[in-house]
Amino acid sequence: MSSDVKFPDVDTPALLLDLDQVERNVERYQSAADAAGIELRPHAKAHKCPQLARLQMNRGAVGLCCAKLAEAEALAAHGLATFLVTTPIGGALKIRRLIDLARTSKVTVVADGEENVAELSAAATQAALTLDVLVDVDVGQGRTGVTPGAAAGALAARIKASKNLRFRGLQGYQGKLQGVASLNDRKMLVEEAMSKLAASKKAVTHAGLPVEITTGGGTGSFPIDLELKHLTEVQPGSYVTMDTNYAKVRLGGGDDHPLGHPLTILTSVISRPTEDRAVVDVGWKSASCDSGTPALRDAGELSFEFAGDEHGILRRAGARLALKPGERIELVPSHCDTTVNLYDSFVVHRSGKLEVLWPIVGRGKSQ
Ligand SMILES: Cc1ncc(COP(=O)(O)O)c(C=O)c1O
Repeated sequence: MSSDVKFPDVDTPALLLDLDQVERNVERYQSAADAAGIELRPHAKAHKCPQLARLQMNRGAVGLCCAKLAEAEALAAHGLATFLVTTPIGGALKIRRLIDLARTSKVTVVADGEENVAELSAAATQAALTLDVLVDVDVGQGRTGVTPGAAAGALAARIKASKNLRFRGLQGYQGKLQGVASLNDRKMLVEEAMSKLAASKKAVTHAGLPVEITTGGGTGSFPIDLELKHLTEVQPGSYVTMDTNYAKVRLGGGDDHPLGHPLTILTSVISRPTEDRAVVDVGWKSASCDSGTPALRDAGELSFEFAGDEHGILRRAGARLALKPGERIELVPSHCDTTVNLYDSFVVHRSGKLEVLWPIVGRGKSQ
């Protein structure tokens, strides 16, 4: 194979990660959060990787968010120790695992129902430990969370009155607005969501309880969250690796694209059955499709389409393709979280120079 083949020692499909660009993205968001006096608790659901988590912690993150217990367990097994579980944890089996995690790690969990609070309290009391709990408020996502306002106050009071639970504050995450392309439109939506969190905070303080933590936000709301200052900490996840979903989201700050794209999928041409079609080794099993097809990184007019579980097709409209079997192309995933979850490891490089493999230990950990 000729020496200009990209990463000749790496078999494909492979998930490449440019560490120089990762460091720039981490620095960009951490320094902006520091300047605004707001803490950064990055969401590890996006990368599920201990080395990336440590990089974020070393640069100043106050802890990690995890969507699932199994993500936190996997990261804890690699030495990470401070977690906010951003999904309510219910049922005996999951609560037992939460308690086990809390024996060795500093764990905060969200809750959105009285039964759930009772279960958490009973389990923490039996284990003779104290769990930190936030009330999860539905600020517009329409998923988990109590109705904003009085219900948040009532649940906070219930947590406060429960044995072995410590009420710490509120979570209000609105995921649907994160990908709104226009900064102004997104700002209006963030203001609306944050007014619901503010009403909830008011109800809690009215009930006589201090709200130490207000947490939420993502990569898209980040610049607005820093400006509005309703949150004491922000939870962006995708900002580290990025994807084409976020490429169209204006992030402002005088620079519409402050974040680069370190994450790509390396794919090989495996067949040239016709002049206008090159078949590559990436399909639905190696690039997620919930947010559309991946984009081609530097391939001019080429387009990619899925052609099954293991195959993809490259075409150039009305023109002959010059690609030969064995040639390699980089694709930019449309959605980082769901693509990362398909791989065992990141192939880490610095601007094209191969460095190391970083295991994605939380890959497939959805329990
Ligand atoms: C609760 C919560 N917080 C933060 C995030 C991070 O969002 P993003 O990856 O858009 O930065 C997510 C992502 O789904 C989330 O579910």
